[in-house]
Amino acid sequence: MSDFTADILPLGPLPRLIGHRGAARHAPENTLAGIRMAAAQGAKWVEVDVKLTADLVPVLLHDDTLDRTTDGKGPAKDLELGAMRRLDAGSWFSPAFRGERVPTLVEVIQLVLALDLGINLEIKPCPGREEETAGVALTLAYSLWPDDRPPPLVSSFADASLDMARQVVPRWPLGYLIDRRPANWRQRVEQLNVSTINVNARREDAASIREYKTTGRPVLAYTVNTVPVAREVLGWGVSSVFTDTPSGLAEIAG
Ligand code: G3P
Ligand code: MG
Repeated sequence: MSDFTADILPLGPLPRLIGHRGAARHAPENTLAGIRMAAAQGAKWVEVDVKLTADLVPVLLHDDTLDRTTDGKGPAKDLELGAMRRLDAGSWFSPAFRGERVPTLVEVIQLVLALDLGINLEIKPCPGREEETAGVALTLAYSLWPDDRPPPLVSSFADASLDMARQVVPRWPLGYLIDRRPANWRQRVEQLNVSTINVNARREDAASIREYKTTGRPVLAYTVNTVPVAREVLGWGVSSVFTDTPSGLAEIAG
C-alpha cells in the first residue's frame, strides 16, 4: 500500500468519543453552548455542521432551513448574517438556552482553540453551494488556525465540497463521510487522500468495517447514543463514535 499520509498533516489523537453537533442531547446543536457542554462532559473533540449565510459568512447550522433549530423560518441561504444573528437558536431546545445565537465559524474556532478541543468541520452546503461553502469556510478556517495545533478534520457528504476542500486545504486531513456506501468509495478514498472514513453506524457491520480498514484508514461512526451500541461498534474496529451524549457514554471514553 502507498503511504497515504504523505504530505497530509497528522490528525491529533483520535478520541473514542466525538461530541455530535456539540452535545446535541444536552444543549442546542451547533451552538457555542453545545460546544461548551461537550467539553464539560469530557469530550476531547466535537463535530459541527458548517454552511453559509446569504452574504457568504460561514456559520453553524445543520438544516437547509431555519425552522427546526431557530425561531426563524425559511431557507438559511436567503438570510444575511445580521438577520441570522438576531434569531434565537436556543429556546426551541429549552428555555434555559434562550438567547443562544447561530454561531459564526470564527467564534467556533476561537472557542475550540480556547478549550483545547479537536474539531471535525462537516461542510454542510445548501444545495447548489457545495464548492462555495467549502471554499469560503476553509479559506477562513485556514487563516485562523495556528500552525502548532493539529488541524481540523474536514468532512462532507457532498463530493464537490470534498473536492474543493482538497484544493483549498491541500494538507489538512479529510474525512470521507458517507451514509449508504457508494460503489466508487475506494476510488474516492484514494483520490481524495482522506485520513478517515466516517460511516453511519446503522448501515455497517463487522465485515464492512474490516473492508474499510483494508485502506489503512481509521473508521469513525455516527451517531451512537447508547453504551451497548458503542461497545458493539467499537468491537467491529471503529476508532471513534460521534455521540449526542458524551456523558452518557463516559464509561467507554477510555
Ligand atoms: O459527521 C457525522 C454526522 O454529523 C453526519 O450526519 O446529518 O448528523 O450531519 P449529520
Ligand atoms: Mg454533521
